[in-house]
Parts: sequence; structure tokens; C-alpha cells
Amino acid sequence: MATAAARPPVAPAAGSESLPAAPGLAINGGTPVSRTPVPFMQTALAQADIDAAVAVLKSGMLRAWKKCEELEARMAPLSGARHAMTCANGTCALQLAYEPLFERGDDVLVPAWTYIATVSMVVARGGNPVFVDALPDTMQIDMADAARKITARTRAIAATHLYGCPVDIDAVQALAARHGLRVIYDAAQAHLATYRGKGIGAFGDAVTYSFYATKNLATGEGGMITCNDDALARQIKLLRSHGETDKYLHEQVGYNYRMNDITGAIGCSRLDRLEAETKKRRDAAARYDAIVSAIPGLIAPKTTPGAVSAYHLYIARIDPSRFLCTRDQFCDALRAEGVPTAVHYPRPLTRQPAFSAFVKDGGASCPVSEKLCHQVFALPMHHGLTDEHFATVEAALRKVADAYRA
Ligand SMILES: Cc1ncc(COP(=O)(O)O)c(C=O)c1O
Repeated sequence: MATAAARPPVAPAAGSESLPAAPGLAINGGTPVSRTPVPFMQTALAQADIDAAVAVLKSGMLRAWKKCEELEARMAPLSGARHAMTCANGTCALQLAYEPLFERGDDVLVPAWTYIATVSMVVARGGNPVFVDALPDTMQIDMADAARKITARTRAIAATHLYGCPVDIDAVQALAARHGLRVIYDAAQAHLATYRGKGIGAFGDAVTYSFYATKNLATGEGGMITCNDDALARQIKLLRSHGETDKYLHEQVGYNYRMNDITGAIGCSRLDRLEAETKKRRDAAARYDAIVSAIPGLIAPKTTPGAVSAYHLYIARIDPSRFLCTRDQFCDALRAEGVPTAVHYPRPLTRQPAFSAFVKDGGASCPVSEKLCHQVFALPMHHGLTDEHFATVEAALRKVADAYRA
């Protein structure tokens, strides 16, 4: 078994030791592009959201009830699915989807390049995660690599629609059909994304969502599963609520992973604006694409053919061979100019100590993910970006890129 200590160290970017003096950069005492930072995200509730939550509080009926049902009834058709089931959070959603779809000891193909929950819940279920690399341009799971990593014990694929961009669903479904695999899509970041004109809930065995405080549809904590199979929907509902089929009659063992109606009310209220806000995210991404692609050494993200992203995050990359700085130094300089950024993610899951028991090669079989972690950075992305914000981002990117270019 490979241990964290035995793995090769993370190499610094070439040239990082020879950072130019660049006195004009704000990080070195120069004048910043903007003294008011561009807001990185916009999570504030509207008065309507607060009123909706207060109405539930005043009703005294706080448990999962009409507001959760309303959220489910509205989200199912928007997602392109027959059934939608709310739950406590996106991690519970994964657990509820995984439990009926594969068994302990099964191999499950998972992305090396995603948030931990997609994979940690495979482990919690007793599955063996088999890490699959990412595509360099879309950063989504590489299905050619997945095909190479199929074993006699592979029973499922758990693929994340990362950053809001659907994966190559045709390729996932084709591989699944060839090998009789179950498919779970983690759409925690991808509400309202589409693939070949359909909502992403139309594909696979089950799709999971998160309504965490920073997600496109944010209720604080919250989650949902969609599926198209009646029997699976029933099973998930049973697992969600102690296997209860009648009052105090429990058909099977389950959990309490229910949402509550305060959360449901906030979700319904925010859902009123989700389509308009998603359109603004897509418009912002188009503007960023133009800005980023015009700066030598910076790389704009590509979208999977046939997919329309929900742009939970806009992830640009630096080509380390074109700069004398590391990605982190680049981002520090951007922040000083008034443009905050974030890194999703600083390491691939193959380098997470939590998964060391399942990684035999130190991550060597996922070389693209090993590179992405040194290159990616998220630009501010939300529905409230203004012309002035885009101008600040563009000027700051150009200024820092020019100062640090190799
Ligand atoms: C891809 C992905 N999967 C799962 C989750 C887990 O969702 P939650 O935080 O609601 O448990 C998240 C949340 O950050 C996520 O980004």
C-alpha cells in the first residue's frame, strides 16, 4: 500500500525561484487596478427568501413538508428527471444514491479530479474507488482512461459534473452499457446544466445535488437526488427516513437524512431566480472566455461537446512554462490588484491522505490531475458581476501576466 510519505513531493513550477521585481504590481507596493475588490461570490439572501423562511418559522411546521415537496416538484422537471428527493446535504445525497446501486467490495470508477465527497461516500459505502484521470481541456473525467481501468469487479461509475460542466455523458453511458455498470452523476455544482438539450437529471441511474451555502442554488445546507426509476426512488425515500412505510413501521434500516421546511422554503424562493441567475453566469463565462483567451499563457476552460455548463465556477489556468511565477504567486498578485481567486483543488484526490489505501502508484496513473492542481484558479463568478468588475479582472490579469511572463 502506498503511503502519503512515500509519494513524490509536489514540484514547484519551473522558474518560480526567479520572480521578477515588478515594482508596478500592487503586491510590490504599486497602485492596484482597483482598491475595491471584485466580490468573489454573491450569496446574500433576498428579502423574499427571508420572508419565505419566516413564514415557515411562524407556521410552527418546521419538519420536511410542503416546502420540501414543492422544491421536489419544481426541481424534477427542471432537471429533466421523473423523481426528485430533497435531503439534508449533497453528501447525504451521494450516500442515498450509492447505497442501492452498488455493494460493499465493488470497484467504482471515480474522478481523481473532483471534490472529496464524490469519492469519500464510495468509501463510506464500502466500495473501492478506482481513480480515473481528467481531460486536460474540460477537466472532466476522461472516459478513455476509465475504460482502461475497468476490472472484473467494476460495478459502477460515479462521475462529477465538475465546476457545473457536464461530463461526456454519451461516453459514460456507452461504457456503462458495455460493462453493465450503474451510473451516478454528482451534480452538486451543476444545477440546470444541460446535455444534448436535456436536463442532466435525464441521464444515468441517479443524479445528486448540493444546496450548500455557496452553490448556484444555496439554502445553507441541503441536497437532492433525482432519478427516473420508480423502484429506486422508493428505495431512496425509505433510506432517507428510517425505512418507514407507515407511522413507526420500518420496512428496513435507514437514516434521518431529511431536509426541513425552512430550508425548503429558502430553496423554493431562490429557485424563482435560478434560471435568470444561471443565464448571467453563462454570460459572465463568455466574457471571461474572451478575456482569458486573449492573454498569452492563460487558458480558458473548454466545455464538453453537447453540454451547457451552469458555471458554478469559472476555472482558468496558467501555462506554467509561460510564466516566471507559480500559480499561487500569480493569484497572490491578482488579489493585491483587487481580484480574489480560489483554487479548486490544490491536490488531486489521489494525493489525499484519506484515500492512501486505494492509491498504489502515488497518483502516477492520473498525470493530468497532477498537473491541473498547479494550474487552475477560479475567477469571481456570480450573477452580480458588472462591466466594471469585468474591466478590473481583465486589467489585473493583463498586468500580472505581463509582469510575470517568461
Ligand atoms: C462535487 C461535490 N460533490 C459533493 C459535495 C457535497 O455537498 P454538501 O457540501 O452539500 O454535502 C460538494 C460540495 O461542496 C461538491 O462540490
